Amino acid sequence: MIITCEQCKTRYKLADSMLDKPELKVRCHKCGFRFMVQRPALAEESILLQDELQPDYSRIIAISNQKGGVAKTTTCLNLGAAFAKMGKKVLLIDFDVQANLTILLGFRGVKSFYDVLTGGKNISEVVLKTKYPNLSLLPSGSRMALLKKQYLSQHNFEYLLKEHLKSIQDNYDHILIDTPPSIEFFTLNALVAANLVIIPSTCEYLSMHGVSQVHDIIKVLKKKVNREVECKVLITMRNDRSTSEKVIQDKLRQTCGDNLFKTVIDADDQIQESHIVNAPLSYYAENSRAAQQYKQLAEEIAG
Ligand SMILES: Nc1ncnc2c1ncn2[C@@H]1O[C@H](COP(=O)(O)OP(=O)(O)OP(=O)(O)O)[C@@H](O)[C@H]1O
Ligand SMILES: [Mg+2]
Repeated sequence: MIITCEQCKTRYKLADSMLDKPELKVRCHKCGFRFMVQRPALAEESILLQDELQPDYSRIIAISNQKGGVAKTTTCLNLGAAFAKMGKKVLLIDFDVQANLTILLGFRGVKSFYDVLTGGKNISEVVLKTKYPNLSLLPSGSRMALLKKQYLSQHNFEYLLKEHLKSIQDNYDHILIDTPPSIEFFTLNALVAANLVIIPSTCEYLSMHGVSQVHDIIKVLKKKVNREVECKVLITMRNDRSTSEKVIQDKLRQTCGDNLFKTVIDADDQIQESHIVNAPLSYYAENSRAAQQYKQLAEEIAG
């Protein structure tokens, strides 16, 4: 079926496989405009086809791997900053009780999603503007730990974030969610809310194992709750001189195929330095290797 971009009027063919829902959010390849396509509007046929329209996978991005220390938080911060520097409005969500993302942006003791669920706050009241243009944060804090206990047994607890995001998600071009190194309350909420899941993996055997665990969970979620979710693996902290890393990297390429980002993030000491000064790398050392690679990743995702 044919649909037309509401802004630049470019026409697209919408794949039949995407018509199983009453409405679908899409993004125009030509002008970048995002709009909703509703089933009744999908009527016009037999026109010259210009392109296949893709679902808007880059809108809500969860960053997840059960393995700890694989650069989930670093990727969330630096990919978000790269999008923001491209002029996109970005919301970072710290969905990890460790609150590393919140700390890296220089905040402590602030309100979090805990106050949204238990204190009757609207999610917009809890979001903070960071000192970096276009970059906002929904922070985390230690009280978030109480949510696991309180809500894990509640029916449909994994939809809580998705539901609360509805009132603010149109204010942002990209929403990036940092998750903890385990599959539980926060990770499941993030995976359900996401259109795209980035699985950062170092070139280590156990990190690769974490990749397949996230894939397994996503397979289940695709069937049950969120059929649009797409996932891609990102190699992080690569050390090109290590032979064992090269072996694991080849293995990841074989097993993931197109679901592996072309961009690779190398090990870069300036990442650690940028953390010390509580800044995204692109603000601390814009021309550093990793800052350039996160920029490249943002461009790869934005297509
Ligand atoms: N490209 C890189 N080069 C060098 N060090 C890096 C790089 N990316 C991340 N690091 C460092 O690796 C450590 C782990 O990174 P990070 O906290 O982002 O991982 P994580 O997956 O979020 O960890 P956790 O599972 O505990 O949440 C940090 O000390 C960070 O500074
Ligand atoms: Mg982390």
